[in-house]
Amino acid sequence: MTTVDVAEAFEGLYGSAPEGVWAAPGRVNLIGEHTDYNDGFVMPFALPHTAVAAVSRRTDGVLRLHSSDVEGGVVELGIDALTPESDKNWTAYPAGVVWALRDAGHTAVSAGADIHLTSTVPTGAGLSSSAALEVVVALALNDLYELGLERWQLARLCQRAENVYVGAPTGIMDQTASACCEQGHALFLDTRDLSQQQIPFDLAAEGMRLLVVDTQVKHSHSEGEYGKRRAGCERGAELLDVDALRDVAYENLGAALAGLADAGADDEVRRLVRHVVTEDHRVERVVTLLKSGGDTRAIGPVLTEGHASLRDDFQVSCPELDLVVEAAVEAGALGARMTGGGFGGSAIVLVEAEDAERVGKAVEEAFAAAGFVPPRVFAAVPSAGARRVG
Ligand code: GLA
Repeated sequence: MTTVDVAEAFEGLYGSAPEGVWAAPGRVNLIGEHTDYNDGFVMPFALPHTAVAAVSRRTDGVLRLHSSDVEGGVVELGIDALTPESDKNWTAYPAGVVWALRDAGHTAVSAGADIHLTSTVPTGAGLSSSAALEVVVALALNDLYELGLERWQLARLCQRAENVYVGAPTGIMDQTASACCEQGHALFLDTRDLSQQQIPFDLAAEGMRLLVVDTQVKHSHSEGEYGKRRAGCERGAELLDVDALRDVAYENLGAALAGLADAGADDEVRRLVRHVVTEDHRVERVVTLLKSGGDTRAIGPVLTEGHASLRDDFQVSCPELDLVVEAAVEAGALGARMTGGGFGGSAIVLVEAEDAERVGKAVEEAFAAAGFVPPRVFAAVPSAGARRVG
């Protein structure tokens, strides 16, 4: 679907051409999982898959929403009446952004908008399709209403839309990735202050590929489990008397775990703490390796180690994700891990370019042998963040 197609669809729906068209990508996370709500480090990059929005301003306080990906027609909402956690449909994401902008004092958006959306980011695959929807709407309204907000501020407002309006207790990674990533780079993000470094990540130039394997397992029940992990991490931080688990230095992990045992913390809290502290350290190791100008292949084992930690300590994997990693590594992948929140969704696999097809096939065969639904495998290159496209 081209920009022209999206603009034409808008005109067909609303009777006049849109004022503009914007795109915002989904993401994969290279390393740094379940660290963002612990003030830690993450390292996502943008996918070529995007949510695209054609948008025009209105003057009557009405928000009209349409998606070509969902059955049903145009949904009309009064901006004054937008209420957190009142909408269980896809419309909660764009409406939540309008609510969050307005709630933060950017009242110009109260005038309203007509929005037509379409997306190529797979939904329920752990690739941030919802963040892409939020960010594309936020960027469009920021441009049209001349709000003057910076990318990281848009990401924060989109996170607020998701946390408060939609009611999902997620961190800041996905929205920041969609808003701030740059083509050819992974984004090293400190989620405490949102300071960022764009790290060149051109696998093709080094003869490698990164495969994304969508297990097609929709992460059902993930919200409750996600919230439980988050609460467990907060409990750990409280027992250790730190603001967030980010403040536990890797060098002090042994002492921290012993301290937790003395304080009567259960095994689960200790496992959660161990994952977060070692995962932050893995992000730092990957950044050091990528910045050293040495062989990028060395990050492979760090990715696989991260998967083991998510599976055993954080316990957010599932049999399908574990099988991707196991089959890929056995077939000669350099490294593999689940990406995103877990409980289904996608894994990433780092491979030599010449092995890409063979490793992908090995994963598909392992799925068939296990009786799992066939996975969707594609190669991903670090792509551009959110932008105006028309
Ligand atoms: C989901 C959340 C993110 C992050 C990841 C796990 O994608 O939206 O904020 O917590 O899970 O790293």
